[in-house]
Amino acid sequence: MRIDVLGTAGEWAGIDPEGRTAVVIDVLRATSTIATALANGARAVLPVPSAEDALRVARSLGRDGVLLCGERQELPIEGFDLGNSPGEFRREVVQGRTLVLCTTNGTRALVSVTGTRETVVASFLNLRAVVEHLVRRGADPVFVCAGRDGLVTLEDFLCAGEAVTRLASLWERTTGRRRGGAARAPLELGDGALVAQALWGVWAPVRAETLAETAAGRSLMAKGFAADIEACARLDAVTVVPVLEGRRIVAARPERAEAKGA
Ligand code: MLT
Repeated sequence: MRIDVLGTAGEWAGIDPEGRTAVVIDVLRATSTIATALANGARAVLPVPSAEDALRVARSLGRDGVLLCGERQELPIEGFDLGNSPGEFRREVVQGRTLVLCTTNGTRALVSVTGTRETVVASFLNLRAVVEHLVRRGADPVFVCAGRDGLVTLEDFLCAGEAVTRLASLWERTTGRRRGGAARAPLELGDGALVAQALWGVWAPVRAETLAETAAGRSLMAKGFAADIEACARLDAVTVVPVLEGRRIVAARPERAEAKGA
């Protein structure tokens, strides 16, 4: 298994995507919102880079069963159905609906990652499910921290660090302790993965207080979104694994169903 961690989506240009699995992280708040929406039964989430794109895509889908969602400067966009607060994406609101989502950094990161074997959406909320999915799929993951306006963010890097730590320990348990001198499958950690793992060692476990101290966290707190920060810090709260299928993010089918060709 080869694991890389990119501090911002801009670093994607340095990756050869062939055979790699991109894991996009925007803890505050886009990927936490996507995980919440799909866990609550949304049919699909279509990530788009701008409000104009969101309107165009929603028009092309027809407005029936479609919700326009997103933020600009973290605030709901005028005329849209929902903002980008995980708490808005309740089952009674999103079940069976297709969501067109536009956010400043998260959805832009999602649309910029191309040419991969698979693209997965991760947050603290669904981290265990994502890590287990990566191991089952024999993935060589590249964690893509969305960052904030082109800069590294602590919260995305910490989430990647927790994922790398869990992946390394799973690898150790499943591959590293073979008896009889069987060859070990190599675990290769790129420098970004080593940095993320070391950082997680210093800051773990994730706490809402830590997220609130970051640049994005302080900005969200100032705008009255303290509840969102609490919501985004709920480690392993949901089991959904959102994956990109074409331009739509959907919940990955359970592996057993895949094995049966369902
Ligand atoms: C983003 O994509 O930049 C974020 O999700 C911003 C936010 O709504 O907090």
